[in-house]
Amino acid sequence: MTTARPWPLGVEGIAYGGDYNPEQWPREVRREDVELMREAGVNLVSVAIFAWATLEPREGEYDFGWLDEVMDDLAEAGIKVALATATASPPPWLTSRHPEILPVTEDGTVLGQGGRQAYAVSSPLLREYALRMTRVMAERYGEHPALALWHVDNELGCHVPHDFSDHAALAFRGWLQRRYGSIEELNHAWGTAFWSQRYDSFEEILPPRAAPTYANPTQQLDFARFSSDELLTHYRALRDVLREITPQVPITTNLMLSSATKWMDYFSWADDLDLVANDHYLIAAEPRGQIELALAADLSRGVAGGDPWILMEHSTSAVNWQPRNRAKGRGEMLRNSLSHVARGADGIMFFQWRQSRAGAEKFHSAMVPHAGRDTDVWRGTLALGRALEALAPVRGSRVLSRVAIVMDYPSWWASELDSHPTQALRYSEELLRWYTAFWDLGIGVDMVPAGTDVTGYELVLAPTLYTVGEQDAERLAEAARAGSQVVITFFSGIVDENEHVYLGGYPGAFRDLLGVRTEEFHPLLEGEVHHLDDGTGADLWSEKTHLEGAEVVRSWADGPLHGWPAVTRHAVGEGAAWYVAARPSAEGLEALVGEIVAAAGVEPAVPGLHRDVEAVRRFAEDGTTYLFVLNHSDRDQVVQVNGRELLTGTEADGAFTVHAGAVAVIQES
Ligand code: GAL
Repeated sequence: MTTARPWPLGVEGIAYGGDYNPEQWPREVRREDVELMREAGVNLVSVAIFAWATLEPREGEYDFGWLDEVMDDLAEAGIKVALATATASPPPWLTSRHPEILPVTEDGTVLGQGGRQAYAVSSPLLREYALRMTRVMAERYGEHPALALWHVDNELGCHVPHDFSDHAALAFRGWLQRRYGSIEELNHAWGTAFWSQRYDSFEEILPPRAAPTYANPTQQLDFARFSSDELLTHYRALRDVLREITPQVPITTNLMLSSATKWMDYFSWADDLDLVANDHYLIAAEPRGQIELALAADLSRGVAGGDPWILMEHSTSAVNWQPRNRAKGRGEMLRNSLSHVARGADGIMFFQWRQSRAGAEKFHSAMVPHAGRDTDVWRGTLALGRALEALAPVRGSRVLSRVAIVMDYPSWWASELDSHPTQALRYSEELLRWYTAFWDLGIGVDMVPAGTDVTGYELVLAPTLYTVGEQDAERLAEAARAGSQVVITFFSGIVDENEHVYLGGYPGAFRDLLGVRTEEFHPLLEGEVHHLDDGTGADLWSEKTHLEGAEVVRSWADGPLHGWPAVTRHAVGEGAAWYVAARPSAEGLEALVGEIVAAAGVEPAVPGLHRDVEAVRRFAEDGTTYLFVLNHSDRDQVVQVNGRELLTGTEADGAFTVHAGAVAVIQES
């Protein structure tokens, strides 16, 4: 099956492997690595991500011997390489000779070397050194038979999403000049008549560094946009060198799509990646962490525009950077991995292949653990390899959903700015709450960026789409007219792209569509809960909303807005627009989503499953369907299905049992 995006050269079936850091190990261990990789069915490893200081120990002096050997050994074993540009962490000789490349925080602190990613992404000198290293790598290994994929830098923006250095100030001014053309336009956009902030020239503008009080909100939003663009610019510069030297080799970088990664607008990066690659780490303390994992996987597919993508990193067991690092339970690593596959991943990889002996990540799990081969982790590595081999036919098939959730990074940034009606609003929390309600009903969703044509979806949800341009708002109205149930939640449609309020009553951009007009927000205090007329509680938010064409779905049963609408529905064309001007409890939300789903006529992938059993279908071009059933619960689940279970090779005819904690993938007949 052909995939729409390029695929790592020569990798058969599902990609399987992890970050491989041979520079940490002697030759004999590296020999064993290759044997173990073959035993596990590994076919792709990411190499040299943090190898700059080893490869170039002194400026201009290179030591490639060890990497040549590693590349040759891997090639001989038939294992392909996602080769890094090796630029992710500048070596100490570079930062000590040129401390001006170091990044600076909001309050002026210079971040030093000794960790990793100690560079200001706007520094021209850093760029020059990184380009040179990239060129050296491409020229040396561009023709190597092991090379399958380029891995640019590593998790761009992971530790330093925002740099406030003088390099950043200069680049920010250039970015603003291109965006606004003139200082008058910028003054208008930033509303600088307020608080005597008028600028007379671009030279006067700075990043929003620590200030006596709230920095200009549009300046903050533009700086967030600029910072995301600047990281992408760095990626593009390195990518262009690789493309020039090795036009035949696909190029990617590992993203960090999750409900926690706020600062990179990955939707705007998507077109520059040949293949979308994501890193995702389970929140171990969260009892139902598989839901956030699924959100991240759906978001990865969304950034890939629905095309297959690869999971570039996750963990076999515990990580080392959460407050308490829980080891994974029985079957959990396999379930995590196959949940990504179910949601469109065609590759499953880990940080990292062999657990480090030294360094900051020595307590982070790996495919080969400290304790060696007689371990559940190693047995899990082998079992996953076999599972992925059995799933080879799934590669290239797609996930189709009838529900879309509009996800918008600028709204995330702007809705959480200071000086707002409440400081308690968390965009990602709202997103995850709604996502969870769909999950609990067994309904799959696509995550799409604002401005997408969503007319084909039965149900479209826009949670807290706070910052929205008129055209993007119109997309949602079009969908409602064409027959979708469109759901918009509180604090949406409040401001335009410049952070200017739409006047005449909230939510200005959606007032007509929703048939309501809000005169004032009434955010709830900490711990304050009022009730809706269905008896469920609601916290965080309320607003004084007048009906202007809409009907009431829920109203407030107590509190200062007793009797006022809390949820409304407006018939629009062939569809309807719902406004959720409250934050219902989980129970209230599930009931409400149930009503909306019923109005949209959307059914779960498999009806009647326990809420902790995940069922997702992938559709192949030739009409074959693959049903993934992941049982996260502690009891067996019977599923009505016919076909062949691929992991065990058994036949499913009618009632098929997926045991507690287990996964089944049925090629349906
Ligand atoms: C990622 C990173 C890896 C490793 C991993 C640990 O953020 O790309 O290099 O640090 O986290 O979980």
